[in-house]
Amino acid sequence: MKFTKSVLAAALMTASVFSVSAAVNAAYAADVQDKVIVAHRGASAYLPEHTLESKALAYTMGVKYIEQDLAMTKDDRLVVVHDHFLDRVTDVADKFPNRARKDGRYYVIDFTLDEIKTLNFTEGFEIKDGKRVQGYPNRFPMFTSVFKIHTLEEEIEFIQGLNKTMGRDIGLYVETKAPWFHKQEGKDISKATLEVLKKYGYTTKDSNVIFQTFDYPDLKYVVDTLMPKMGMKLKTVMLLGYNDWNETYELKDGKWVPFDFNYLLDPKNFPEVSKYATGLGPTYAMLFDLEKTKKGNIVVNDFVKNAHLNGMMVHPYTVRADALPEYASNVDELFKAILIDADADGVFTDFPDLGVAFLEKQAKK
Ligand code: G3P
Ligand code: CA
Repeated sequence: MKFTKSVLAAALMTASVFSVSAAVNAAYAADVQDKVIVAHRGASAYLPEHTLESKALAYTMGVKYIEQDLAMTKDDRLVVVHDHFLDRVTDVADKFPNRARKDGRYYVIDFTLDEIKTLNFTEGFEIKDGKRVQGYPNRFPMFTSVFKIHTLEEEIEFIQGLNKTMGRDIGLYVETKAPWFHKQEGKDISKATLEVLKKYGYTTKDSNVIFQTFDYPDLKYVVDTLMPKMGMKLKTVMLLGYNDWNETYELKDGKWVPFDFNYLLDPKNFPEVSKYATGLGPTYAMLFDLEKTKKGNIVVNDFVKNAHLNGMMVHPYTVRADALPEYASNVDELFKAILIDADADGVFTDFPDLGVAFLEKQAKK
């Protein structure tokens, strides 16, 4: 987070040439090793996202955190699934054809856990011309083999079990999906999530978990009200999006209106945001000056510097080797721009093996 080779070299100019070089390299390697690779929905480039199988694969790839996105069922259970809908990643439309809402979507919240457990969980797809088309064509073939949706409790037991057998301490990176939507439906997903985390021993800033959300009003509620009431103080990451994603709504004067992410993106507000967030989770493009960036020359901006000045770490999302931005020629160039040039503290990736390999190569430089 703090060191570049040139800064360290300048600081150590009074020492001998050989010891400067050794000290600089050691400190740089240590700094690089401090950076974290977050397995985004598991090793989701290789196995269907959020399956326990994809979590096991990510675990063996040497990541520091494995991500859990969460939605709540009709009977108040937390399931690990990215959307608060079931239709992109399951056969719900085949098994429960009459249970879609008017918008055509099948909502997690309209199904019990038992019903959800009957579904087959698959690589994500869209419907095009009435046909299922896989989102990432080169990934795991959709609707092959058998995968099932699981609960947050099941995933925690899985990761804690692996931590025991593998002798490691891999962290959770939980995201409450659309707390505003759950509130509209009369459910408090953040409270339910904290209750499960507390039950499994995650209660303090030193606990190996990060609580992340796109919902700033809900993060304030979590930090100001829920965590103190429950005797908890976890690390938190505020996720940042663009307004046209319509990611979050907030209640204003009794009406649900779109949340304005420009507030969170303005560094003037970072001191206020840092009262609630241990870190920021921007999309990686927010770290770059896109007007100056060209293929082969990714130009970084001051985003990470401003976050660090306000004591916040930065974990951007999501590096995908099979969906690179046009300005990156290869995945290592993108990892370098994010982790070394922009100096982010970690990164979410669907390709945890490539992220870990990149850091290993950097530490040896
Ligand atoms: O939580 C970080 C990243 O996962 C945010 O994007 O949509 O994949 O949850 P999403
Ligand atoms: Ca997420």
